[in-house]
Amino acid sequence: MKVALKDRYGPPEVVAVGEVERPIPEANRVLVRVRAASVNRADLDGLLPRPSFVRLFIGLRRPRNRGVGLDVAGIVEAVGPEATRFKVGDPVFGDLSLFHDGAFAEYVCVSEAAFQPIPAGMSFEVAATLPHSAILAVQGLRRRDGRTIGPGDRVLVDGASGNVGPFAVQIAKARGAEVTGVCSPAKVDFVRSLGADHVLDYTTVDYTRTGKRYDWIIDTDSHHSLIAVRRALAPGGTYVTLGGTASPILAALLLGPLLSRFGNRRLGLLTWWAPFRAEDVATVLELVGTGTVRPVIDRRYPLAEVVGALRWVNDGHARGKVIIEP
Ligand SMILES: NC(=O)c1ccc[n+]([C@@H]2O[C@H](COP(=O)([O-])OP(=O)(O)OC[C@H]3O[C@@H](n4cnc5c(N)ncnc54)[C@H](OP(=O)(O)O)[C@@H]3O)[C@@H](O)[C@H]2O)c1
Repeated sequence: MKVALKDRYGPPEVVAVGEVERPIPEANRVLVRVRAASVNRADLDGLLPRPSFVRLFIGLRRPRNRGVGLDVAGIVEAVGPEATRFKVGDPVFGDLSLFHDGAFAEYVCVSEAAFQPIPAGMSFEVAATLPHSAILAVQGLRRRDGRTIGPGDRVLVDGASGNVGPFAVQIAKARGAEVTGVCSPAKVDFVRSLGADHVLDYTTVDYTRTGKRYDWIIDTDSHHSLIAVRRALAPGGTYVTLGGTASPILAALLLGPLLSRFGNRRLGLLTWWAPFRAEDVATVLELVGTGTVRPVIDRRYPLAEVVGALRWVNDGHARGKVIIEP
């Protein structure tokens, strides 16, 4: 079978499509024939580790997992002797973040725990847009203590035009919030089309200096100090950051809880991420099923052009999800 592989860290060009033997599922594993996969920033962060200290966990000198890609949707082709949840022919989707495999392949073979059924009527490519980014959006809009957003809350999505941001904008709107999206000038119209009430171009406006206050800020790619972000939080407000380079991530991780002790604003890194948590998957499926949230697909690439797909996202061109179809 054909599979995208990486043997070293580097830009998208280190990925090559190779040929490996098709696995036979053992124990509780299932073999899934991939019909669609989608690209996430996390795929690129895994190629050129960001934040840099994640190398401690994913391989110091070279990646431990040669596979590439997290979001996958396909059809169960074979099941291991201990697998009980799925049968051959079932349409499933999942996030491979906790599983040692890569979604950019003709087949994936991992524990059945990685998957949930795709509901009737949902296409493979729509299902493939959801597992990583939509779940991160749901969990970034909910604190560890369960507190979340509600009608009338002023929510700012910093990085509204990437993978997670469009889901965060639409989910916050669905919950009745007044939503401000932050993005580059070229994507202002895209973010407006998602339903954002206000859109700020980060090259001309620094939202931490406008004097406006937000009840919730979800940040997908930290670009401000915590002190600056705190200024933009209303009393009782929450700031949750998801990603970025090492120093803002470490600051959010270590300094965030300290700053949160003084005053009534909460700031920090999303440390309660639970990949593809079943309850959150159900929430997302409900929102997509009712048409309240509409995943946006930017482009489709065949597996043979996986480097082009990764490069397109890496260079910031995508307006919505990029799909890879074996
Ligand atoms: N905390 C956790 O547990 C956890 C778990 C999994 C993944 N993650 C991380 O979560 C993040 C998810 O992000 P994503 O996939 O949505 O990333 P993405 O698709 O790369 O989007 C990044 C966003 O940041 C914006 N941006 C770029 N430069 C900016 C600037 N100077 N000021 C403001 N915004 C700027 C981009 O806007 P333009 O495109 O318009 O320039 C885009 O909207 C990844 O970093 C991933 O590694 C975290």
